[in-house]
Amino acid sequence: MSAATPENPALAGLYPQHLETLQARAAEALQRGGFDHLLVPSGTLHYQFFDDRDYPYAVNPQFKAWLPVTRAPGSWLVITPGIKPKLVFLQPHDYWHVVPAMPSGYWVEHFDIAIIRTAEEAAQHLPKDAARCAILGEPQSAIAGYAPNNPQPVVAYLEYHRAFKTPYEIAMMREASRIGVRAHRAAERAFRAGSSEFGIHLAYCQAAGQDANDLPYGNIVCLNEHAAVLHYTDRDRLPPKQSRSFLIDAGASFGGYASDITRTYSAQADEFAAMIDAVDAAQLTMCDAVRAGTDYRQVHLDAHLALAAILKDFGVITVSPEAAVQTGVSGAFFPHGIGHGIGLQVHDVAGFAESDRGGSIARPDGHPYLRLTRVLQPGMVVTIEPGIYFIDMLLDELKQKGLADAVDWARVDAFKPYGGIRIEDDVVCTAAVPLNLTREAFAA
Ligand code: GLY
Ligand code: MN
Ligand code: MN
Repeated sequence: MSAATPENPALAGLYPQHLETLQARAAEALQRGGFDHLLVPSGTLHYQFFDDRDYPYAVNPQFKAWLPVTRAPGSWLVITPGIKPKLVFLQPHDYWHVVPAMPSGYWVEHFDIAIIRTAEEAAQHLPKDAARCAILGEPQSAIAGYAPNNPQPVVAYLEYHRAFKTPYEIAMMREASRIGVRAHRAAERAFRAGSSEFGIHLAYCQAAGQDANDLPYGNIVCLNEHAAVLHYTDRDRLPPKQSRSFLIDAGASFGGYASDITRTYSAQADEFAAMIDAVDAAQLTMCDAVRAGTDYRQVHLDAHLALAAILKDFGVITVSPEAAVQTGVSGAFFPHGIGHGIGLQVHDVAGFAESDRGGSIARPDGHPYLRLTRVLQPGMVVTIEPGIYFIDMLLDELKQKGLADAVDWARVDAFKPYGGIRIEDDVVCTAAVPLNLTREAFAA
């Protein structure tokens, strides 16, 4: 979204409370760090080495937390407790590029806005005593006298509390989910029509109205065996002779917020389709575990057992689900975490934060890829993304560990041409039943 955010009555109504929450958090964070002002540069363009080409601009997440402006490099926010927030907005005199549009939309009235024409001019609008400022940003955002210092107590406090989304943020993520689901539907149609991975990707981008510069992460579009590569981003230009299966992990952005959605399809009503249905049913049960007071690590461990039960039902493993989990056999088929926090970043910050002062909650032993170890509380938004994959490298490791007998290799061979399954939703923890933003959007 550009600085010219379209008016949206629901968001306009929710935004003041969001801003109030952020101001209260900023005041506490500054107090803890011993600072008077919070300065947040939006970030700068980065250039390729030995070249004059810039990488796609990624706004500082600490900046877009405050306002839905995602394409305004060289701008600054000034937050001083008790004072209206200030936006120092860079609109360069530039005829080579599109200049960020004049700020407009529901959020504008809540800021004092100063327009500048060069990045260095920002200094004139920042508090005079830089030593009293917590400056959150990347080193490249420094201008004369104002270098980011990212004080630990300030960052730890803000990042910890960012896990708790305001109603405004939930509304933003609902929009991101709605756009993502619209594009997922287009992608499924393209798969059923026999498109290549590249063609499906283009159909997705077209339907989302977003491309690599806008999407919250690179689309993962897999046909057949490619679904066994967790982060497959190659995208074959030509369709395979036969498209048996389709796994798509793709999200969308809205005003700086992300959705992260995965669906898997079989071309036929076959055994693989039945396995997808089984994972889908198990995934819904896991989503229902997104409840206040639940340790997310337990959701992950329970997922191993549920997925091992499916492997057993389909004859892929020969041992009990409990034994498969205990010996690490389930981990060969489900080798990633059950999910992560999501919000301004697809993998949101502070997944391991023990408290708003710091510290870290360890992952369960033997689960090195889990990205969230906190106890769930209302306002947290997490993904729930179980999967079953047929990955040669990990299956070979099972053989090397002497666990070959735990697997029916003929069944593995039968499923291998389909690659794997992942089903991923974005789920809000509330004071009551969870709110599944993805299913809600698919049901609309
Ligand atoms: N799309 C990356 C993930 O699911 O975490
Ligand atoms: Mn995810
Ligand atoms: Mn994903």
